Amino acid sequence: MKASIARLFDLAGRAALVTGGSSGIGRAIAGVLADAGAQVVIAARQRQRVEQAVRELVAEGGMAEAETVDVADRASIAALLRRLDDAGRTIDILVNSAGSNLRMPFEAIRDEDWDATLAANLTGPFLLTRALAPGMAARGWGRIVNVASQQAIRAFGASGAYGVSKGGLVSLTRSTAERWSRSGVTCNALMPGFVVTPLTAEASADPARVAAMAARTMIGRNGVPEDFRGAALLLASDAGAAITGQMLCVDGGFSAT
Ligand SMILES: NC(=O)c1ccc[n+]([C@@H]2O[C@H](COP(=O)([O-])OP(=O)(O)OC[C@H]3O[C@@H](n4cnc5c(N)ncnc54)[C@H](OP(=O)(O)O)[C@@H]3O)[C@@H](O)[C@H]2O)c1
Repeated sequence: MKASIARLFDLAGRAALVTGGSSGIGRAIAGVLADAGAQVVIAARQRQRVEQAVRELVAEGGMAEAETVDVADRASIAALLRRLDDAGRTIDILVNSAGSNLRMPFEAIRDEDWDATLAANLTGPFLLTRALAPGMAARGWGRIVNVASQQAIRAFGASGAYGVSKGGLVSLTRSTAERWSRSGVTCNALMPGFVVTPLTAEASADPARVAAMAARTMIGRNGVPEDFRGAALLLASDAGAAITGQMLCVDGGFSAT
């Protein structure tokens, strides 16, 4: 490979914060960012799982650190930001992958379900973006990648509060891009299809449902977390410098049928 191509995707000297980086799609993204040379901070609620992911990345030759955060909790986000600040850690790449998907019929959504969903999937990414984008802009380079959902653009499977939160996240992606892109900070949304992870464990337990979802794709299979490595690296690196405010579907053609 030519050095100029390697340079496009080289993240040496960059620091990334990946919320939800201990599992599923976030774990795969944390892995590719570390493989590309970034120093990766993984943050989620369960420290043990974060530390396990960090051990794996370090064993593979990457640079990674463990943090805890509940992105549905303003105080927890503020505390994380304070710790990063105290450690002198500047963040160049923010990946908002932490999310929750409470599935219930619309009429059964309780106030607390609505509030918890919006807090984790929309307000958390907003708070982190508002805190970190100005520093990226001041340094003239930044990348923000939000993990949204098909349910941002179509309703299916009790999309209730979840679809609304992801629709908001796509709008946040555009408003972030509109504010910061001229300063070298891009913001884009990854749009998964159906990906087998702990988040979808309930649906994955039904083979007929899994097969039906796979049949709706063009590639004939459901997603796996590793599918996000290439797309995330594109959006997080110099290769994606002119891509901003976009939704990138990594869904095997699910959304195109
Ligand atoms: N899997 C799919 O089919 C699919 C489809 C469309 C969109 N997505 C989106 O993709 C993202 C990742 O999902 P996934 O399938 O990879 O799920 P996953 O494997 O269950 O991983 C979720 C990650 O988020 C963390 N997390 C959850 N709630 C959190 C909170 N309040 N604060 C901090 N961390 C939190 C979890 O760790 P802790 O539990 O330790 O906090 C874990 O690291 C989500 O935003 C999801 O909505 C997934």
